[in-house]
Amino acid sequence: MKFIKIQDCYKVYKNGVTATAGLNLEISKGEFVFIIGATGCGKSTLIKMLYREEKPTKGKVIVGGIDVAKLRNGKVYKLRRKLGIVFQDFKLLPKLTVFENVAFPLNSMGLKKSEIKPRVLKALELVGLKEKVRSYPNELSAGMQQRVCIARAMVNSPKLLICDEPTGNLDPETSKEVMDVLDSINKELGTTIVMVTHDKDIVNRMKKRVILLDNGILASDELKGKYKAHETV
Ligand SMILES: Nc1ncnc2c1ncn2[C@@H]1O[C@H](COP(=O)(O)OP(=O)(O)O)[C@@H](O)[C@H]1O
Ligand SMILES: [Mg+2]
Repeated sequence: MKFIKIQDCYKVYKNGVTATAGLNLEISKGEFVFIIGATGCGKSTLIKMLYREEKPTKGKVIVGGIDVAKLRNGKVYKLRRKLGIVFQDFKLLPKLTVFENVAFPLNSMGLKKSEIKPRVLKALELVGLKEKVRSYPNELSAGMQQRVCIARAMVNSPKLLICDEPTGNLDPETSKEVMDVLDSINKELGTTIVMVTHDKDIVNRMKKRVILLDNGILASDELKGKYKAHETV
């Protein structure tokens, strides 16, 4: 069975806006997929349904065997533990060190200190920031801060990493740094990555699967895809 399965998925918000309209999509374990399309076309809504920030109004969203629409609120943690999430704005806690920020999800799971430390160091090694354990977020560059966020998302060894515009605030050089980290996580750990982006250069350089949304509908889905000239996003 496919790792992610979306069937005839509609999301209509309370205000009447239809954000996705009959999406059908399958993603296999280990894939690296870009979701692109104009502002407001439903990219964030689509991935919010993957981590059950939103429920589909109609249709199915299955992630790692979990039927997201049927999941009770009290069981959402079971889904969340299977995945990591990275956003555009670094949501690091400024008063905590890099170590403490990355350890945060494990602390809230109630793991022992002796179990937490090796996992945090491993996650920081993955993003090349092991030597920054004692630093505070404001002592790091924007690219480094985003890499700490990736480490925090990966600390629980999730099978799926969801990224919403992770390079949205970064210059091209720093974006490349972040993309190299994501690429190596995908290649070395086999983590499935679903990434929303506006960045044409990144999409064209990486040559991964590209899913284009247009007004909540799947407009194209290409392996080794590209941003096309007519797509002004
Ligand atoms: N919580 C919400 N309530 C009402 N409408 C929303 C909400 N979130 C998004 N929308 C609307 O749904 C559509 C898709 O939004 P979104 O998924 O954020 O698009 P994208 O990420 O592609 O810019 C837009 O018209 C947006 O205004
Ligand atoms: Mg968005």
